[in-house]
Amino acid sequence: MNNEMIDTYVALIDKDDQLISVFANTAAWIMEMIPQLNWSGFYLTQEQVCSLGPFQGRPACNRIGYGQGVVGTAWQQGVPIIVDDVHAFVGHIACDVRSQSELVVPVHGLNGKIIALLDLDAPVIKRFNEKTVALVKSLVDVMESHIKSYNLG
Ligand code: SME
Repeated sequence: MNNEMIDTYVALIDKDDQLISVFANTAAWIMEMIPQLNWSGFYLTQEQVCSLGPFQGRPACNRIGYGQGVVGTAWQQGVPIIVDDVHAFVGHIACDVRSQSELVVPVHGLNGKIIALLDLDAPVIKRFNEKTVALVKSLVDVMESHIKSYNLG
């Protein structure tokens, strides 16, 4: 099933040469295809802060500092972070009170630098099981290859 899903994603972003459109369609694809999410979107990195990018869901915090919240921590550590219960994550930034669990995956650009953080929120505890995390990581791999081959970021 995951491979078929990935194929639809590849077809969606195929030939898109605008980073912002790739991010917008990726956020929308995830919201459409992965059940039990209340927020799906990107934070775009700058020097010490990342700012809200394309997303689906309720309006959200527009700036998150390096090392702050789940997003800023994934940015600082350079690895995906799975939070089973956001209330147990010290420093969690609550943008949407419905969020109970969260997954943040760094997105790398051409020179290996983190150019964005993909942030997914779910209205249930422990939403991000092994299967969902594997799917999202595969999507990000596909997106990173696309970004590199089109020289987008
Ligand atoms: N919860 C995130 C903030 C972004 S919202 O979930 C959209 C965090 O702690 O970094």
